[in-house]
Amino acid sequence: MKLTLKIWRQKNAKAKGSMQTYNISDVSPDMSFLEMLDVLNDSLIEKGEEPVEFDHDCREGICGTCSLQINGEPHGPDRGITTCQLHMRKFKDGDTIVIEPFRAAAFPVIKDLVVDRNSFDRIQQAGGYISVNTSGNTQDANSLPIPKEDADMAFYAATCIGCGACVAACKNASAMLFTSAKVSQMALLPQGKIEASERVLAMVDQMDKEGFGNCTNTGACEIECPKGISLENIARMNREYLKASVK
Ligand code: SF4
Ligand code: FES
Repeated sequence: MKLTLKIWRQKNAKAKGSMQTYNISDVSPDMSFLEMLDVLNDSLIEKGEEPVEFDHDCREGICGTCSLQINGEPHGPDRGITTCQLHMRKFKDGDTIVIEPFRAAAFPVIKDLVVDRNSFDRIQQAGGYISVNTSGNTQDANSLPIPKEDADMAFYAATCIGCGACVAACKNASAMLFTSAKVSQMALLPQGKIEASERVLAMVDQMDKEGFGNCTNTGACEIECPKGISLENIARMNREYLKASVK
C-alpha cells in the first residue's frame, strides 16, 4: 500500500506545532498501525531527519499508553481496540491518514504525538486506593461474600486502561468515564465501601482541578473506549457523589 500521512509535529511543549505531510510506500495490510509508523521513522532516520515521537509500550492493548487521534477518532476507525491493535487492512491503498495527539487542555503535548497524561495519575492518587489493615489479622479477600453481579461489574470497570480516548472523544474533554470507572471498581466491592465517600469527593475534586470538562451525556466516550467501559459507571459515580455530598 502507498499512503499519505499528515502528522502533527511539535518540537516540545512550548513550540508551535503544525501538520507535516509524508508519503510512505511498501506498507503491508498485515502491519499494525504502530509498525507502519516504525517504517516511517526508519526512513526518516535514514534521511537524517527527526523521527516522529509517539507513545507505546505493550503493543497488545493492555498498558493504555498508545494514544493517537486517527482521522479524527481516538484509536482510529475500529471499535473496541487500542491504536496498537489497529491494522493497516482497515485502510485502502492511496488513502490519506491524519494523525494527531489526543487533544485536551489537561493533556498538554510534550512532543509530536506524545501527551502528558499525569492528570489521570493525580486523579487516581486522590482516592483510587483502599486502606488495608496489615496487622496480622487481615481477612482473606476470598472469604468475603460478593454477589456475582457486583463482582462482574467491578471487574468490567477495572478493565479501564487509562488511555484517555474518552477525554479525546468528548467535545467537553471530560474525564467522567475514566474517573467513574476508577470510582466504580471500588464502590461495588466491600473493601472499597469503607472510604467510598471521601474517595468520590476527592477524585471528582481532582478531576475538576485538572481542567477536564463536564459530562453532557453525548456518549462519544463510551463509543470510542477500547475497553467498552459503560456510561452506567458515570451514573453510579454521580449517585455516589450525591450520597457523599449530603452526608
Ligand atoms: S474509560 Fe475507556 S477510553 Fe477512558 S481511559 Fe478508560 S479505557 Fe481509555
Ligand atoms: S501500546 Fe499498550 S495499549 Fe497500545
